[in-house]
Amino acid sequence: MAVEASRRGFLRSVGIAGGAGMLYSAMGALGLAPVPEVSAEEYRAPRSGDFALSGRSRKKVLVLGGGIAGLATAYELGKAGYDCRILEAKDRPGGRNWTVRGGTTLTDLDGRTQKASFSKGQYMNAGPARLPQSHVTLEYCRELGVPLEVFTNQNANAYIYQENSAALAGKPMRWRTAKADVYGYVSELLAKATDRGSLDKELTATDKERLIAFLQNFGAIKGKADGFAYTGSDRRGYSVEPGAAFEEGTVLGPVPSLSDVVASGVGQRFSFEFGYDQAMLMFQPVGGMDAIPYALAKAVGQDRITYGAKALEVKNLQDGAEVTYQDADGRTRTQRADFVVAAIPPMVMARVKHNLGADVTAALKYPTAVPVGKVGLEYGSRWWETDEHIYGGITPTDMDLSTIWYPSYGYQGRRGTLIGYYNFGANAVAYSDLPHAQRVERAVSRGVKIHGEKYRSELEHAFSVAWHRTPYIEAGWVGWTSQTGPEYQLLNKPAGHVYFAGDWLSHVIAWQHGAFTSARKVVTDIHERVMAA
Ligand code: ALA
Repeated sequence: MAVEASRRGFLRSVGIAGGAGMLYSAMGALGLAPVPEVSAEEYRAPRSGDFALSGRSRKKVLVLGGGIAGLATAYELGKAGYDCRILEAKDRPGGRNWTVRGGTTLTDLDGRTQKASFSKGQYMNAGPARLPQSHVTLEYCRELGVPLEVFTNQNANAYIYQENSAALAGKPMRWRTAKADVYGYVSELLAKATDRGSLDKELTATDKERLIAFLQNFGAIKGKADGFAYTGSDRRGYSVEPGAAFEEGTVLGPVPSLSDVVASGVGQRFSFEFGYDQAMLMFQPVGGMDAIPYALAKAVGQDRITYGAKALEVKNLQDGAEVTYQDADGRTRTQRADFVVAAIPPMVMARVKHNLGADVTAALKYPTAVPVGKVGLEYGSRWWETDEHIYGGITPTDMDLSTIWYPSYGYQGRRGTLIGYYNFGANAVAYSDLPHAQRVERAVSRGVKIHGEKYRSELEHAFSVAWHRTPYIEAGWVGWTSQTGPEYQLLNKPAGHVYFAGDWLSHVIAWQHGAFTSARKVVTDIHERVMAA
């Protein structure tokens, strides 16, 4: 794959670059120069020299939408001196990358308004909140000087809470305890089966020995003489912590039966942290995720971004494209450019008047909007740290709130802000159907089952977001029934001089990585076209 990728990078550079870029890439492909990582090598940002060396004039590009895809498009094209302008309907950059602090307001599509009253220093990332190490988002943070800190996605001290399981229902169980029991019993069973010869077709005698050695270590089970039994271990945690002098501690017990552990379903939660995008370590920008869009907006140039600009019409023309929009003062304006990049959600773009064809409208309507909700709950103490020893991480539940997130910033501080629900689909709709205060009450009534009355009594401020009810956004993200069908193909190509960009045109939907890579693709397509003309 790496060879294939560098070959593509090689051809692309030769096709568009000339000069040092071409030489460097060619040397890399021939193994003569150090080749940077595939992701970095594959994308080559347009450079100012590309115009200077070829004598071509710099083109004008209008970008619809100042979310990550739109900002990245303008930022990358700007590196080569393209004259980019962004039209953004909201009064801020970032789109779904939105950090809510005290004073932030939101008016939903139904007209209901909230104003956040979070204390100074407290915030919630209402949209993206975690960054995997493999994502190009981290490269942008480095390039833009956005400082990062660890985001704890998985914490052995957080709980798993299931109230509808066949056993152990309604008992919050620490991740570490659930793991000790599940790994322990699974190891016991497999060691017994191996020892009895049930796997003799699959395993040699040496394989069996090694497998059993692994299982004893993995599951903390007893030896052969004790039937490889799992009887619990300190991996479960302690009811009395070990301490000074004669305090050995008391291992948490009693250990539930094998049957109850299987019936509890807790083991089904572990695969979350195996997910390619969800595995620790993960990161977050210091002070809020919106550091990324604000850094991008600054790099693009604030004077190049028009806020409060609502797109009314997009027209592809013989030799360019044109956007008509309503400005913040309600005036209708038209701007012309060589290219337009529509970096807004597909269902929103589908309603903008255009001359790009009925098949484009149909394709834009093809992906389904996914309802997503989140609530931030600010507490006057960090009881999850002081009383429960949970410093960041997530408690998954089978309740309609889905997950509770403990903050990965402000440890040991005087106050802190949890995410009290982060849910999708029908659960997100059920919460968003309620006025804000009732959403909070519903979330709190669930949370007390895990954390007790302080979950209600210590609560001071709350702010809820329903992305599917948020103007100009209208979904947490979209889903495609097919990303190989004609709709997806069509929107990944320009409609004349109009291009489309966004995480929704990637295989990394609902991540900023998808938006960044989609922007890079469109930037490359435009630049190749301009350089080839
Ligand atoms: N990327 C989103 C998340 O991590 C879906 O929750």
